Amino acid sequence: IMSSFKYTPENEAKFQEYASRYPKIDSCMLPALWLVQEQEGWVSPEAMVYVAEKVQKSPMQVYEVATFYTMFNLKPIGKHHIELCKTVSCMLMGARELKAYIKETLGLEPGQTSADGLFTFSEVECQGACGDAPMISLNNVYHGKLTKEKLEKIIWECKNDN
Ligand code: FES
Repeated sequence: IMSSFKYTPENEAKFQEYASRYPKIDSCMLPALWLVQEQEGWVSPEAMVYVAEKVQKSPMQVYEVATFYTMFNLKPIGKHHIELCKTVSCMLMGARELKAYIKETLGLEPGQTSADGLFTFSEVECQGACGDAPMISLNNVYHGKLTKEKLEKIIWECKNDN
């Protein structure tokens, strides 16, 4: 099967480095998928086929791994990816209100991307930052002890960062 996805030369070099570290090439599947996500922001079906060839697995086996781990985005994501923790500490400290606020200001439910491609909203499990609950990760940067006001400011800054 041909795939239209290809690593950049830089990511190809990284992949080769991982491959040299593992005794079996199929152990590289997770790092190989991470490289895809770093490059594209998400893991497309074409990229899964590409990875399958690289790590000598079937596309179905790659698909199973990519869908098992929630950190892989299986749809294109917006420029700003808001991941709200919904686990117990964050929930008790106000995650539900933040979720309602996101719905109110951006019109987004978990799993949705805004029509202008600026924001994707996801709910995630505990990020290990419970001491700073409630928290979001915004493009993989943590923001803790959030209030509606702080979130409002963060969203404002995203909107003005174009
Ligand atoms: Fe939200 Fe742990 S419960 S970071």
